[in-house]
Amino acid sequence: MSTVQRIKQPIEAEMELFEKKFYDSMASQVPLLNRITYYIVTRKGKQMRPMFVFLCAKLAGQGEVQDRTYRGASVIELIHTASLVHDDVVDDSDKRRGFFSINAVWKNKIAVLVGDYLLSKGMLLCIEHKDFDLLELISVAVREMSQGELLQIEKAKKLDITEAVYLSIIRQKTASLITACCALGAASVGASAEEVQRFSDFGAACGMAFQIKDDLFDYGKSQIGKPTGIDIKEQKMTLPLIYAMEHATLAERKWMLGVVKKHNTDRKKVRELIAWVKEKGGMDYAIKRMHTYRDEALSLIADYPDSPAKKSLYEMVNYVVDRPL
Ligand code: IPE
Ligand code: IPE
Ligand code: MG
Ligand code: MG
Repeated sequence: MSTVQRIKQPIEAEMELFEKKFYDSMASQVPLLNRITYYIVTRKGKQMRPMFVFLCAKLAGQGEVQDRTYRGASVIELIHTASLVHDDVVDDSDKRRGFFSINAVWKNKIAVLVGDYLLSKGMLLCIEHKDFDLLELISVAVREMSQGELLQIEKAKKLDITEAVYLSIIRQKTASLITACCALGAASVGASAEEVQRFSDFGAACGMAFQIKDDLFDYGKSQIGKPTGIDIKEQKMTLPLIYAMEHATLAERKWMLGVVKKHNTDRKKVRELIAWVKEKGGMDYAIKRMHTYRDEALSLIADYPDSPAKKSLYEMVNYVVDRPL
């Protein structure tokens, strides 16, 4: 049995029903939209966010989930999907989940509109059922995600990024949605405000570890279903490079900024830069930071009594940092 299958065990029935509800939630009268949403669901991702929703709901709800939990999971996955469709336009990326991205097949115009459509369907699903508490958690995440993406673009232009700014970018663009998953899972089963806050903090720590890992993949050679080595090309400086830069001599710094600014599409120069980052201990440092977030997440749920959901959440946190892709 794979790790993911093992993690899913306590929520197998929920995930199966979720998939159907998720697909139904995208239905439209417009044939082009239906073709695209069909394309999206047949190339589904890891579905880690709905897994977080259900596992947190089960942990907070003593093994039970509610109809609200399903809607919450669908909204989150709709918004996640919308953000990826838009992100691939923003990053000019032609591959997602091992296939062509929406913008690669249907061009930017259509991808922008599809992203907006998915976002609206998510919001409406909450409104139709008066899940206003869930809607609030999600709306905060959507605001944060857009701000994070914009801050990232601003920093990519000026290249004046520090570790603190990097952490605030990933907190906004990625951790905010995983925060919402965990808070929403707990809120959907009627957890107290204090408990919702604990799950929110748990999600934030998981989300930070998750994005540091995702950024580490960009330095690797493994086939992860989306392009690697594109961050430097996009002048996007992530933690390994930031650490190396903060520990560079003046000459090294000048050279590396030159590569990022002027030779970011020169594959040989980018390869040299990556080798230098590794030598400076940039990867090791990012891994260390990622492990700090993992430990913080684990400690936040340590007090709960043992249960299959708790065991799976533990495994999930470890999977976030250890996953091969
Ligand atoms: C990708 O998220 C976007 C990031 C925040 C890095 P996932 O890696 O969870 O994407 P899918 O849904 O599995 O494709
Ligand atoms: C993640 O950003 C997407 C969002 C959080 C909206 P990235 O651009 O870093 O992620 P990938 O590598 O394309 O999945
Ligand atoms: Mg991207
Ligand atoms: Mg991006």
